[in-house]
This record gives sequence, structure tokens and C-alpha cells, in this order.
Amino acid sequence: MAKARVWTIAIVGCGIGRAHIEGCNVHPDKFRVLALCDIDERRLDAVGNEFAIARRTTSFDEILRMDDVDIVHICTPPALHAAQVLAALAAGKEVVCEKPLVGSLAEIDRVIAAEQQARGRVLPVFQYRFGNGVQKAKRIIDLGLAGKPYLATIETAWRRTPQYYATEWRQQWDAALGGVLLSQAIHAHDLLTYLVGPVSSVFARTATRVNSVEVEDCAVASLVMQSGALASLAATLGSHKELSRLRLCFKDVTFESSLAPYSPGDDPWEIIPGSSEAAQRIADALASFGAAPSQFVGLLGAYHEALTTGGPLPVTLADARQSLELVTALYHSAAIGTAVSLPIGMDHPKYNG
Ligand SMILES: NC(=O)c1ccc[n+]([C@@H]2O[C@H](COP(=O)([O-])OP(=O)(O)OC[C@H]3O[C@@H](n4cnc5c(N)ncnc54)[C@H](O)[C@@H]3O)[C@@H](O)[C@H]2O)c1
Repeated sequence: MAKARVWTIAIVGCGIGRAHIEGCNVHPDKFRVLALCDIDERRLDAVGNEFAIARRTTSFDEILRMDDVDIVHICTPPALHAAQVLAALAAGKEVVCEKPLVGSLAEIDRVIAAEQQARGRVLPVFQYRFGNGVQKAKRIIDLGLAGKPYLATIETAWRRTPQYYATEWRQQWDAALGGVLLSQAIHAHDLLTYLVGPVSSVFARTATRVNSVEVEDCAVASLVMQSGALASLAATLGSHKELSRLRLCFKDVTFESSLAPYSPGDDPWEIIPGSSEAAQRIADALASFGAAPSQFVGLLGAYHEALTTGGPLPVTLADARQSLELVTALYHSAAIGTAVSLPIGMDHPKYNG
């Protein structure tokens, strides 16, 4: 077992990479950002100066050669993730990688195989799981207090303007690997499977209506979960009021998330018991609930614990695979116009992306 120590980090990609630095800086006893990498020198310098990180490079390979860097955070555009994750694992690094982890089930299976042979492990980023609301719901469900799941409605109503797509990769299939289903609603859909379990079948429709881009920016889907529960997904990038909403109806309790678009895991969540007995059981279960740090702070705190103890990572490649399998099924269903069953096997036409 490794002993608790300060792990050193290189951030690759200085867009959302900034939020990773901020999350690490909340934990100075756990992480130190040692190096920054971006092919855009102006951005590299701006972020380096902002956080007083002196070591900067435009070369990803140079990062991999830095023996004093323990963890490489990959925060580059999606189409680069697979190669960079594999290279970082081969270089003996621990890896943190932004969503979407990779662009196909075939690629994630290569990453899973590489991780099994590597010294380091891969932490996929799903930071929305970390927050008081979602963690309270998770505890109630895992303790079996929610009962049979009936129905979930999941809404991602965000807004993206042409300015967002001025960063060109975001509008292209080849670089972004997908639109609202893969890039934005992936968080809320991960929360659905995190809380309600795996998906059995999907029927989806997608459209590009908001911006003039290649990728879809509106989607709806009707799901059957493995438990038999039903779920509906709605996602758009054309909402003039932004919100994220999860509404989960179980036999003994209904959960309603906050509407905060970019922190749906945080309180206030409404936890509505179906009876006074259920209310008492839930109150007892939450009596010892401490504050759950939110988003990157929560994710990175739990990550450090896993690095220190060698215990399971707070988000695993299996979680990222489940997310990617759902997205794959949604795209396939939208393309062929019929329901698609999971799992997606190696012989499926969309296994390779
Ligand atoms: N977890 C979240 O909530 C969240 C939010 C936003 C973006 N993301 C994800 O983070 C990733 C990056 O998105 P973004 O919005 O920050 O994009 P961005 O384009 O703003 O930033 C990416 C950066 O990577 C740099 N880059 C490109 N190729 C590189 C290379 N080979 N080596 C080093 N740097 C390179 C670019 O110059 C750019 O500065 C995407 O996968 C995106 O989906 C996640």
C-alpha cells in the first residue's frame, strides 16, 4: 500500500484543465501541479502565469518523459484522448482523463486492456457525481431504502451559441466524436445509471436545430432499465433558461435534483418519502451524513484516497464504458430508427465507433 503523499501532476490542455488546477489547489496536502502542456502557447502562458506554474511545454511527449510527474491529466479535445491515455499508461503514469474518455467501445476496451498491464490506472472524469444531493440519494438507494425504481426523467437544457463553436473541434464529428449526447448530457445520463442502474434498451431521436454544426444539439430517448424501470432523456443546447434536472421515482421515495445546470449533484435535492416509515428510515440513514465535497474537489479528494490506499478509483473505466455503451446505443437507435438493446457486443456495427 502506498503511503499518503503529495502526488505531482501535469495538466495537458488548458481549457477545462483550469478547473482541474483549481480542484488540485484546494488539496495542497494531496496534489501539486508541476507542469502544464498546451500546443497553444498564448493559452499555456496565460494559465501558467495565472497559477504561477513555471514548467510549461507544448510537447505532450516531453510531459511523459518527466520522471517527477506522477499523474497526467488529459484535458484535450476528445479525439486525442485514446492515444494520449495509452501513451501515458505506457510511460508508467497515473492518468486522469476528461469525458468523453474515448470515442468507441473498441477504444475503451484497448484502454482497459492497457490498464491491466500498466503500473498506473485511469480515472475517467465524472465530477457531477460529487455533491451532497446526489451522494445522499446514492446512500439511500444503496441501502435499499428507495425500493423498486419506477421511472426517471432526465433533462439537460443548456445553451450553446456560435461563440462556443468558434472553437472549431466542438462542431465536428471527427474531433468532438458527438454532440449534446456525448459532450453535455453525458453527465446527467451518467448520474442516471449511477443511481438507477444499467440500461437494457433505448429508442432515441436526435436533431441538429440550434446551431449550424455537424453534431446533434437536440436529443430525446426512451429507455428501459435492466430493473424494468423506465426513463426518459431530453437534451438540448437551445434552452434560454439553462437547467439540469433529474427526477427519480422509486416505490418508497421520489428524488428531485436541484435545477442548477452545471452542478446538479449539489443540494438542494428534494427527498420525498412515500410514508412516515420510509421517512424515518431515510432520516436514520442520513443522520451520519457529512458534507460531501462537490465536483472536482470531491472527485480529487476521493482519488487521492484511492491512490493512497490502492483501493478502487472513485470513477472507473467500467463506469466510462457503461456511459459510452449507452451513447453508442443512443446514436445507433437514432440512426436506424428502432429500439436498440444493450449490451453492444464486439460484432455490433457501432462497436468501433
Ligand atoms: N468535465 C466537464 O465538465 C468538462 C467541461 C468542459 C470540457 N470537458 C472536456 O474536456 C476536454 C477539453 O475541452 P475544452 O472545452 O477544455 O476544450 P478547449 O479547446 O477549450 O481546450 C483544449 C485545449 O487542449 C489544447 N490541445 C489540443 N491538442 C493538444 C495537444 N496535442 N497537446 C496539448 N494540448 C493540446 C488546445 O490548444 C486547447 O487549449 C473535452 O474532452 C471536453 O469534452 C469537460
